[in-house]
Amino acid sequence: MDGDIAPLPALAETAAAHAAWLLVDDAHGLGVTGPQGRGSLAAHSLGLQQVPILMGTLGKAFGTFGAFVAGSDDLIETLIQEARTWIYTTAPPPAVAVATLAALRLVESQDWRREHLQALVQRFRAGAAQLGLQLYDSATPIQPVLAGTPQAALYWSRALREAGILITAIRPPTVPQGTSRLRITFSAGHSEAQVDRLLDALEQTRADANQAEHG
Ligand SMILES: Cc1ncc(COP(=O)(O)O)c(C=O)c1O
Repeated sequence: MDGDIAPLPALAETAAAHAAWLLVDDAHGLGVTGPQGRGSLAAHSLGLQQVPILMGTLGKAFGTFGAFVAGSDDLIETLIQEARTWIYTTAPPPAVAVATLAALRLVESQDWRREHLQALVQRFRAGAAQLGLQLYDSATPIQPVLAGTPQAALYWSRALREAGILITAIRPPTVPQGTSRLRITFSAGHSEAQVDRLLDALEQTRADANQAEHG
């Protein structure tokens, strides 16, 4: 939710100490973190031994649709035979599989997209800090900004939408009371100029909100 990164090595150690299996849902890591975008496991040099079940989605960094589970032959065979949601689901269309393959080639070979994305995140964080916005401790493309009340988060989200910027307001019960926030998500498709436009819009929205509040 907040772009923070799970302490995977510590979780793997705890799982091992209790002879438990660790399942990692790397929906937001694949394509974005680790060498060649190979995800959070690669970023932490973890493998099948420490993380017996890896789940990934294809609708985020890959830009297509669907998901996968990776694990041992026995695990995969068990899922094929027993997982009701898999057995009774139509297979993804071949066109989607081909699009995913094309995306995989880009993810593997184009480090510049991840570098560009990181640069956008740094640019945003520096600009937002200068504006005095309350950021969360996230180094990933998910950058929440604290708004406080649900009304404040909705006000910011609506104002930004009017400025042509789509940012959702996250409110309780999704997050604790008093911590409603804007959830800003960057992609490699964004430009530096767009980050600057976002920062300008945030500054303007804050000025308008102060004006509305204090007259
Ligand atoms: C951590 C995580 N896992 C799984 C999913 C589900 O992905 P999909 O909608 O592609 O099935 C999401 C979607 O937001 C997610 O954030």
